[in-house]
Amino acid sequence: MSKKPLILGIETSCDETAASIITQNDQGSPVVLSSVVSSQVEVHKKFGGVVPELAARAHIDKIDWIVQKAIDDSGKKINEIDAVASTAGPGLIVCLSVGLSFGKAFAASINKPFIAVNHLEGHALSPKLNSNLNYPYLLLLISGGHSQFLNVQGLGKYKRLGTTIDDALGEAFDKTAKLLGIEFPGGPQIEILAKKGDPNKYDLPKPIFSKGGCNLSFAGLKTAVLRITKNIKTDQEKFDLAASFQRTIEEILYKKTKIAFKEFEKQNALTEKNFVVAGGVAANQNIRNMLINLCEEENYQSIFPPIELCGDNAAMIAMVGLEKFKLKEFSQLDHPAKPRWPLDENDCFFERCWGSIIMQYWLMKSEPDVWSIDQQIKSGAKGAPWDGGKKLSGCKKFKVNEKR
Ligand code: KG4
Ligand code: ZN
Repeated sequence: MSKKPLILGIETSCDETAASIITQNDQGSPVVLSSVVSSQVEVHKKFGGVVPELAARAHIDKIDWIVQKAIDDSGKKINEIDAVASTAGPGLIVCLSVGLSFGKAFAASINKPFIAVNHLEGHALSPKLNSNLNYPYLLLLISGGHSQFLNVQGLGKYKRLGTTIDDALGEAFDKTAKLLGIEFPGGPQIEILAKKGDPNKYDLPKPIFSKGGCNLSFAGLKTAVLRITKNIKTDQEKFDLAASFQRTIEEILYKKTKIAFKEFEKQNALTEKNFVVAGGVAANQNIRNMLINLCEEENYQSIFPPIELCGDNAAMIAMVGLEKFKLKEFSQLDHPAKPRWPLDENDCFFERCWGSIIMQYWLMKSEPDVWSIDQQIKSGAKGAPWDGGKKLSGCKKFKVNEKR
């Protein structure tokens, strides 16, 4: 029997230090032998967000014993490892550099190939860790830095169908949580608070709901939440706002996913219709249930990574490493860390900036119908019609939409 590849994966793109060992079974499906994730929540909590320099220091502190633990937990020996895969981007450059340098040095020291991995590709392939998934599939990637619909046609073959023109969904959850006085990272807490609230209490805007194809926009929601929080006095009102926010997100995703289904069907001759949801926000049970129901209505198979593999982890990095190892797609040891590394080759920086500017101009012209004065009054906001679109176009014209 031939030896099964054994891959070490390393992830340090943001605030999780992670290492994993994976292999494959006789059928060629991946098997996770170990997955160790060390979160830096305690380091960043008091700052209300990730501080890059502190994150990098914490990675340096922990990386060696996290990798050692992943190897020990797998029951394998260092000399059995066939390749080392590290996240090379996108992410915070000071953080990426730690795992990337460690992975390269490790690979060189055991004289085995090194594989540079795109973090987003890790999320995109993460459902392959627990299901037999065939290409093509439609991917909804919803994390702290990204919100995209992608037509995944094969390893390394991605076509973007839609993206956020401002905040990522995880970012919207985290910012809303902050406005509600919830400690960083607040996204998961919103889901818990929402259970105690009335989802119909507040009417929040749904930017570009009826336009923009399957592109998304969440910044206006945050503006609305900010206004409402100023008048919130009781815990119950807080729970109601969390529930209303959650319901609004579900309505946006329901509609935009339906549009993405149509786009995906236009681009592929399909024998089976697969819809994959990945990234940190895919851990949200309400969003999961809503998307599962939508898939039943539209005859799609819904596929989610296990909850523990929705957030950042190294098993998904090792998974990409395994696929690339089988194709002998190795990287040079001078492979750079890439703070920006879009999955879609056509997704060039200038194209995206221009896309964003045009979209925001168009939003500015058409925003009042997105959130009417009636809706504002109902939601407790007073004054002039919502001007989130104008503010957006004024301040963020040259902002790159996707942080990673
Ligand atoms: O994929 P991830 O771990 O890191 C990035 O690559 O960004 O995603 C982290 C994001 C954070 O914004 C976090 O608040 C959000 O995912 N998140 C959630 C939930 N769990 C994590 N958002 C909503 N509901 C959840 N249950
Ligand atoms: Zn991630």
